[in-house]
Amino acid sequence: MERRSFLKTSALAGSALLFSRALNGADSQGDATVEIMVDEPLGTISPLIYSHFTEELGAVIYDGVWVGENSKIANTGGIRTALIEKMKQIKAPAVRWPGGCFADSYDWRDGVGPKDKRPRRTDFWVDDPDSKGLPQKGVPSYDPNQFGTDEFVRFCKLSGAEPYLAANVRSLNAYVFDQWVEYCNSPAGSTTWADVRAAAGSPEPYNVKYWGVGNESWGCGGQFTPEEYASEYRRYQAWLPRYGVDLKLVASGPNQDDVDWTTRFFQNIFTPGRGVRPPFGWSMHYYTDLPQALKFTAEDVYPGYELANRMEKIMLDHWTAMGVYDRNHVVKLVVDEYGPWYRFSDTRLDPTHVLGQQLTVRDAIMTALTLDTFNRHPEKVGMAACAQLINCIDSLFLSHEDHFITTPVFHVFDMYKWHQGGQALRAQFSAPDITFPRTAVRKALSSVGDEAVVGGPQTRLWGLNGSASLTGKTLTLTVVNPNLTEARDTQVLLRGNASVASAEAEVLGGEDVHNHNTFDQPDAVTTKKATASVTGKGVRLTLPPSSVTRVAIVLS
Ligand code: AHR
Repeated sequence: MERRSFLKTSALAGSALLFSRALNGADSQGDATVEIMVDEPLGTISPLIYSHFTEELGAVIYDGVWVGENSKIANTGGIRTALIEKMKQIKAPAVRWPGGCFADSYDWRDGVGPKDKRPRRTDFWVDDPDSKGLPQKGVPSYDPNQFGTDEFVRFCKLSGAEPYLAANVRSLNAYVFDQWVEYCNSPAGSTTWADVRAAAGSPEPYNVKYWGVGNESWGCGGQFTPEEYASEYRRYQAWLPRYGVDLKLVASGPNQDDVDWTTRFFQNIFTPGRGVRPPFGWSMHYYTDLPQALKFTAEDVYPGYELANRMEKIMLDHWTAMGVYDRNHVVKLVVDEYGPWYRFSDTRLDPTHVLGQQLTVRDAIMTALTLDTFNRHPEKVGMAACAQLINCIDSLFLSHEDHFITTPVFHVFDMYKWHQGGQALRAQFSAPDITFPRTAVRKALSSVGDEAVVGGPQTRLWGLNGSASLTGKTLTLTVVNPNLTEARDTQVLLRGNASVASAEAEVLGGEDVHNHNTFDQPDAVTTKKATASVTGKGVRLTLPPSSVTRVAIVLS
């Protein structure tokens, strides 16, 4: 149907259309347009936005990343080889470790030196309800420290990623942090720690650039007030050995929309005369809390997308608060934990997968819309890390012993890697909004114990959204169609000084949003080629319902 005739029809249809929307819970008519302003760059998309998070939690490290040198599972010095290969495929830019909450109970010195001398320690997650019933000896309740700094940095190097280490602020002190930097970065032969590193096979320094100063310092990381944490942060940054490395510190930022935490930290740090070096990044965590990973109905889907979509407003609110004190916006947002988190379902593939869950096409869509959100704000987001890489929350991979599969979330990262380092372009997405009852959002929030206020009888979500970027002559467009039943016949139009030489597309989803991969059916959800027809200044294609699409447009 032509756009003009659709608009005409929809205007005439009047109350009949409204009635059918009310019944369906969603707008269901219409074509769509994506306009890309090729002459309006927004900034460079930091590749670090596509980073990952690994915590000493459940089966993330042991069984996930680390299988041990003597394992029958294919490994490279103890690290799961299949995982390394996939990390290279998605061009993983950085990996965060060892936490998360675990970081503030971890002494890095336990995880270096000869493996048979390393102590066993109680894991932060030992008493978590999700750990109930696990063996009272060994992993994951007790950390054998077989995977420490050397093993983590090796995992990063093999994967082509930068290490991002999180320091313990709750239960250690700044001196121990200084020494960790010394261990990683002091030149060969210069310090005793450099000698210990050399004995582990790495005489040359690791040159670790990214360092988190604590984690969730308002909660598991010490229950500090913003002023107390600012004081800790000042102590940690006041002196640090640099060894020629451009160290980038990430301060422990807010829990979701807690703007008060942001305001009070920035006010403290930016007090004139204190001489505090501002951090590179301000960590922000926002999970989409939902009840059920697999047992959900159609009416549960849009509220989940709406909650995931709140990321944009939360980011903007913090950015505004930061700008009151950091006038030049020197400090960037580092969203180093995000993803859908199912609080009341147990869909883990093995009992040891504490906080483990299955990942469906619905999760791929929520992850994609989050990555698009980051892409649309390249000047604000310096880094982000999906929580977590394997066997935990929004995982790209699931594994147990010799089983190893990718999830739909992995495919999103594989599709979106083309944005890394590109120039983000302004784009306008036009499609009928999806409307659904507010009560559904309230239900989703209250089912996970969230008291957030939601008002009004109806709420709405955009009908299409995404992001665009340009690298050389290749324009990458990624777009989410969240509609459960309606495909969108979509015209992509290039505005400005460009025309299309060729285009190709790939799509994820398009069928039941419950679809997911299992050890028995590892490729139930994968990307497929889609048809994209070149139409002079644009491209025409159909975006299936519940889908994520990537269009690669070569400009002439
Ligand atoms: O990712 C799981 C946990 O969620 C992390 O350890 C913590 O930082 C957050 O609360």
